[in-house]
Amino acid sequence: MSVMKAGLEDIVVSTSDICFIDGHEGRLLYRGYDVNDLVARSTFEEVCSLLWYGRLPTRKELEAHVKALASTANRKLPPKIITMLRQLPKKATPMEVLRTGVSALSAFDPDAGNLSHEAELRKTIRLTAQMPTLVAAWERIRRGKPVVAPNPRLSLAANFLTMLTGKKPTPLAVKTFDVALILHADHEFNASTFAARVTAGTLADLHSCIVSAIGALKGPLHGGANEQVMLMVEKIGKPERADAWVKNFLAQPGARIMGFGHRVYRVEDPRAKHLRRMALELGQEAGDTSSVQIIETINRVVGEQKKIFPNVDLFSGAGYKTMGIPIDQFTPIFAMSRVSGWAAHVMEQHGNNRLIRPRAEYTGPTREQYKPIDQR
Ligand code: ACO
Repeated sequence: MSVMKAGLEDIVVSTSDICFIDGHEGRLLYRGYDVNDLVARSTFEEVCSLLWYGRLPTRKELEAHVKALASTANRKLPPKIITMLRQLPKKATPMEVLRTGVSALSAFDPDAGNLSHEAELRKTIRLTAQMPTLVAAWERIRRGKPVVAPNPRLSLAANFLTMLTGKKPTPLAVKTFDVALILHADHEFNASTFAARVTAGTLADLHSCIVSAIGALKGPLHGGANEQVMLMVEKIGKPERADAWVKNFLAQPGARIMGFGHRVYRVEDPRAKHLRRMALELGQEAGDTSSVQIIETINRVVGEQKKIFPNVDLFSGAGYKTMGIPIDQFTPIFAMSRVSGWAAHVMEQHGNNRLIRPRAEYTGPTREQYKPIDQR
């Protein structure tokens, strides 16, 4: 039997051309482009094109791609999906609703069971366009507010914030949100992407793969951590309480603090610095930087005591909160961006497929004697 590595740590399962992480240098590349350059010069829509088509688009290609992603035909939800959302209990969490909604959307998709590359691209564009509408629609429905229709003239970031809040977002909020989408778009074989690839490996359809990925993203050790960070910040309440709170928290045996640590990075996650800056800028615009101050104190104490570094989830929520986004929507927003990477990986997996099927090192009994039920 081969070597066992708990959690598949450092195990290479496949080649991939999509994303490269250097966990020691703190570098993250999408298709060879440094994420810092993409943050400075690109847009989420262009990054989607890069991930799905394997290269940066020409101006003409980008225009067509942006138009497709923004079209009402692709962004709008089938009316029966809205009816279904209205029938869900209002206490359903946005991640539950997103998981259910994406699964239901497959029943309305004309290409649902079609695994050809062209059909997978069409579904990828539709799902990336529909997911923000789904997330925003649930927010409106659960609060008893009218659903806001998508606007094909707006970027994905601007359209989402408008549909979610019913208000025109500030230019800083749109820019910041777009950068957050770029930063969350892909991250090699993280847990949710791997879940998508495992599902793709059975030759299941794109929607099934994305539903698997949403389930994996939901957990607090992965995408659910951004929500947990903000709940911690709310519990702390005031910057002056943060130092004592975090020291007390870390003194508990086995304490695990959300937003820190990573399987691959041994330095600070390269995405964290952008999210920190953005959270601060938004806080300054709104005249309240207390969340960022609390997080900075947590970061200092964790760094001193644990020698672990911030990951992508530490600062993202502070910015979202300032934009008026409810905490339980943070992970669905992560999914709205990561669907771009998940879909790229599903297409790559289907392009050169082999079933993913590892082994377990069996540690149970081997010679049990079966006893009839009345003798047990
Ligand atoms: N708080 C406290 N200690 C930690 C943390 C943390 N957040 N992360 C790691 N450690 C410690 C562990 O206690 C362990 O110490 P030990 O060797 O003395 O027992 C050591 O660092 C290694 O930790 P593992 O859990 O073995 O590392 P693993 O690679 O399995 O886990 C993970 C990575 C899940 C991200 C972990 O760091 C964690 O739980 N972080 C908090 C949750 C979080 O922020 N997740 C988001 C990650 S980014 C993303 O998925 C989008």
